[in-house]
Amino acid sequence: MENCYGIILAAGEGKRMKSKLPKPLHKVCGKPMIDHIIDALKNAGVKDSIVVVGHKAEIVRSHLGENIESVYQEDQLGTGHAVMCCQEFLKNKSGRVIVLAGDAPLITSETISKVFEHHIENGCSATVLTADAIDPIGLGRIIRNAKGDIEKIVEHRDASEEERMIKEVNSANYCFNIEDLKDALKKIDNNNAQKEYYLTDTIEILKKSGKKVGAYKTDFVEFMAVNNKVQLQEASEAMRKRVLIGLMEEGVTIIDPSSTYVDMDVVIGMDTILYPGTIIEGNTRIGEECIIGPNSRIVKSIIENGVEIQNSVVLQSKVNDNSKVGPFAYIRPDSEIGKDVKIGDFVEIKKSKIGDKTKVSHLTYIGDAVVGKGCNFGCGTVVVNYDGTNKYKTIIGDNAFVGCNCNLVAPVEVGNNAYLAAGSTITDNVPDGSLAIARERQVNKEGWVEKKGIWKK
Ligand code: UD1
Ligand code: CA
Repeated sequence: MENCYGIILAAGEGKRMKSKLPKPLHKVCGKPMIDHIIDALKNAGVKDSIVVVGHKAEIVRSHLGENIESVYQEDQLGTGHAVMCCQEFLKNKSGRVIVLAGDAPLITSETISKVFEHHIENGCSATVLTADAIDPIGLGRIIRNAKGDIEKIVEHRDASEEERMIKEVNSANYCFNIEDLKDALKKIDNNNAQKEYYLTDTIEILKKSGKKVGAYKTDFVEFMAVNNKVQLQEASEAMRKRVLIGLMEEGVTIIDPSSTYVDMDVVIGMDTILYPGTIIEGNTRIGEECIIGPNSRIVKSIIENGVEIQNSVVLQSKVNDNSKVGPFAYIRPDSEIGKDVKIGDFVEIKKSKIGDKTKVSHLTYIGDAVVGKGCNFGCGTVVVNYDGTNKYKTIIGDNAFVGCNCNLVAPVEVGNNAYLAAGSTITDNVPDGSLAIARERQVNKEGWVEKKGIWKK
């Protein structure tokens, strides 16, 4: 979009959130509200934007980093005052500016593009994004004249009984001609119920000075503002619906959207099925034809094609093609599960690499280990990686066979094609192709029970 700039208003305190976290940083589908809005602007092609910060500005700024410019509004004297703080930013600019509320994360880049087009086509000086609200309480009302043109915006607290009957509300998102906005801002005052400098007053000012003011009406969902935790949940719910619909349109099967939670930036391939109770977070990427869930949580991980993850938790790890995880497995950060691997029930893998075609079928802990290809772990194996102070590494070669109930006391190495007898506690390295037995020989004391006189008939 040529000659179009963006301003995001995010200086307000957000008292009703009752939170230590600044309001713009509260997450909706895993992504801070402010980032949703920044991305919507960027995706619409608005390249040069600024965020007005105020309350807990340092925390907000450190989150924004180099991503976007910001300006400090020391006292939050109203939305009009917030835009006045952008004087420097607007100084040598001409064209249009999109002003967005920093607490309404559902605005889409499509709507931003459309309002911009609408603004230009209609030769407007200002265009207000409006919507019909089911419950307009607390919001600014759109006052139209007999011809149906927008005349002004009246805040709820300043509105008459009659004006409060109006359902059409101000979304607090606008497109302005920069020159006209600058002129109008000089004329606003704080003679209102909240003693604030309202940005909304610029609409009446422009209209009265003979400028054309337009309204672009769309679905209220895009303007749901977050002022408290109830609205945070409502906005998240609307965003979640949008994310899931997007995935289904891309060919993902979702058995029960009401119990499926997928973060904004997750990518999932075609013909993958999400069963109920699935939670996928962070920048997770899942391939095609996977079966995820029921009841699984995957965080910041890469899951390749054809993988099954059932009733399990996978954190910051990678699972390669056609492997099966679970039910009831726990893959902890920095693990990599190879191709065609089986990680079965009650298995925990921590910071370990498991080679292709290896089977760890039940009741096993593997930590700080590198395991080769084609190995088999018997039930109840424990990698003893921690001596109470330090953690040590275990290396297991290809095609090793680990009998049931073995302990591998790290640091230790087991060679290729080595066999470990069931019940062994392995403390020394095992060479390639050997059988290691590390347990007491069995002794049978014949007649012992009878001699003790405890034989039961
Ligand atoms: C505002 C609109 C109202 C609209 C509603 C939609 C005004 C006067 N009113 O009301 O017509 O229906 O949004 O949700 O604009 N902010 C600053 N600095 C300030 C004040 C606010 O940066 O000094 C920021 C806030 O952080 C917030 C946004 O501006 O992100 C909106 O401010 P808020 O106080 O929530 O406005 P509302 O009273 O909800
Ligand atoms: Ca307010």
